[in-house]
Amino acid sequence: MGKRKVFIADTLATEGIEEFASFPDLELVVKTGLSPEKLISELGDAVGLVVRSATQATREVIASGTALKVIGRAGAGVDNIDVKAASERGIVVLNTPGANAEGAGELAVAMMFALARDLARADATMKAGKWDKKSFTGCELRGKTLGLVGIGNVGSVVARCAVGIGMKVIACDPFVAPEKAAALGLRLTDFEEVIRTSDFVSLHSPRTEQTKGLFNAPTFAKMKKGVFLVNCARGGIVVEKDLIAALDNGIVRGAGVDVFDKEPPEDWALAKHARVIASPHIGAATAEAQVNVSVMIARQIGAYLTRGEIVNAVKAGA
Ligand code: MLT
Repeated sequence: MGKRKVFIADTLATEGIEEFASFPDLELVVKTGLSPEKLISELGDAVGLVVRSATQATREVIASGTALKVIGRAGAGVDNIDVKAASERGIVVLNTPGANAEGAGELAVAMMFALARDLARADATMKAGKWDKKSFTGCELRGKTLGLVGIGNVGSVVARCAVGIGMKVIACDPFVAPEKAAALGLRLTDFEEVIRTSDFVSLHSPRTEQTKGLFNAPTFAKMKKGVFLVNCARGGIVVEKDLIAALDNGIVRGAGVDVFDKEPPEDWALAKHARVIASPHIGAATAEAQVNVSVMIARQIGAYLTRGEIVNAVKAGA
């Protein structure tokens, strides 16, 4: 029997490509940056497909891979994979939860520090040759209440850092036991308390039917005046126009936004808002995270295709 093909559709770290070499009956086809039409015509008899976030593994793409057995996402979110369509064809979808959590969590913490000191605007004044010391009286994080929406892998990193800084951390997460929360040094509570009492709120949940539009005008109306909001989780959890209104009416003092409804944004109003620090979905863009996700997905795909072992399967609707 000839070698079985694994199609790499987005750039993987070299370490991940090398990891595939430990599965000698697999052959890699590396073709990144293809248009959807090109991907459909090229997938051919590949048994595996590996994507990061750029490639959309749509129903049509999945149907074109007539020999596909597994789709691997080098990362956590599977918004770019039609998991239902894959499941209907018996194709397993694997992701790498936790492998890039440190990078994403540290970015959220960086956003909190930068917001508290208005660092992006301070830098812009310096770049413009202005010494505007009076405009930049910020606040300290120590002693402030941080409310985390979700304390999975990424939220846990943020909790660890925030506790170290001396913040009081509370969180809501329907999937976490109070014991885990206590071990992280935080108190588990409900969404209402998180939004009503926090000085900083940081989002760390996936975009699901339950979280879509969770931060909307009625939510902002309940939040503490002058709250800072960080979204390094997923676009769509925050209603962008409602956040802009909350920034304009002073409820939200500043927002750190790494993720958007559409990426790149169709409407840049939020990213360009004076009190928003924006970044182009770079939570997992660290050298360490990219090596971790690439090696992990290579191992999982290899294990599944050669030994039938399933690690980190994503369920449709999850
Ligand atoms: C993830 O889902 O793993 C992160 O958002 C980073 C990425 O999109 O690759």
